[in-house]
Amino acid sequence: MRKALCFMGKISRPPVKIPRLAVYLCGVPGDQLLQNLPRAEMQQGYVVVAVCPAYFKNSIMLFFVDTANLDHIREAAELGILDGVTTNPSLMAKEGITGEKEVLKHYRSICEIVGKDRDVSAEVISTDFNGMVAEGKKLAELHENIVVKVPMIREGVKAIAHFTELGIRTNCTLVFSAGQAILAAKAGASYVSPFIGRIDDTGWDGMKLIKDIFEIYGTAGFETAILAASIRNPLHIVQAAKAGADVVTCPLSAILGLFNHPLTDIGLEKFLADYKKG
Ligand code: E4P
Repeated sequence: MRKALCFMGKISRPPVKIPRLAVYLCGVPGDQLLQNLPRAEMQQGYVVVAVCPAYFKNSIMLFFVDTANLDHIREAAELGILDGVTTNPSLMAKEGITGEKEVLKHYRSICEIVGKDRDVSAEVISTDFNGMVAEGKKLAELHENIVVKVPMIREGVKAIAHFTELGIRTNCTLVFSAGQAILAAKAGASYVSPFIGRIDDTGWDGMKLIKDIFEIYGTAGFETAILAASIRNPLHIVQAAKAGADVVTCPLSAILGLFNHPLTDIGLEKFLADYKKG
């Protein structure tokens, strides 16, 4: 999702010649940027765009629902703001979905509910390279929406690199450190899933990890999307959005919690009461 060239901090000259478009990320106004670039560079056909960091990420933050509950997925989809779904073996078990046949059938149902071009993460159970590859291929063949979810272990990183070569999209899960996020991105993962809530549970700051990964990926040029996972409440969603997450995956309750404000309720009640008076 991060595209083009990124030069954090001070203005630098382009290291490579790009005929039509070079995007500069900087904290200075555009005219200052232009003054600082040598005229010769400008004449070589560069179009220089000064953007603030928020605009560099040329995509809108996506909303996924983190559940295997079909009713919750339907309810989120009906809101008109759903971009995808993440699941994991625990969420499948919670819905009583067991056995390969049932699990695959359930993934197909989820894909059908969310509709075209909405990613659905389906997690492998194997922990060895060959097993993960075999499982991942089967999952990817199931539906075009499927993104193969692979744990952050050695064999998992190998499998992600292999899936990347095959053009199979992946979500690297169980990420708890910036170092792990670098490995996932190096292997070409489409998504990296840092678990905010579980880090918070241990007394550390989960959101700090999102900020660190955002900074690292921007600086190092990794294109892996940051999928803020293990979100527990509406505030996590707001904080993840501020921290630069490309995607938030949340239980339906956290999404619905975003609606709540007592002043909205009081205000609406008054508007309707006043309307009736008139
Ligand atoms: C998502 O991909 C994860 O599986 C999920 O967010 C984990 O959330 P939890 O820590 O609330 O179980």
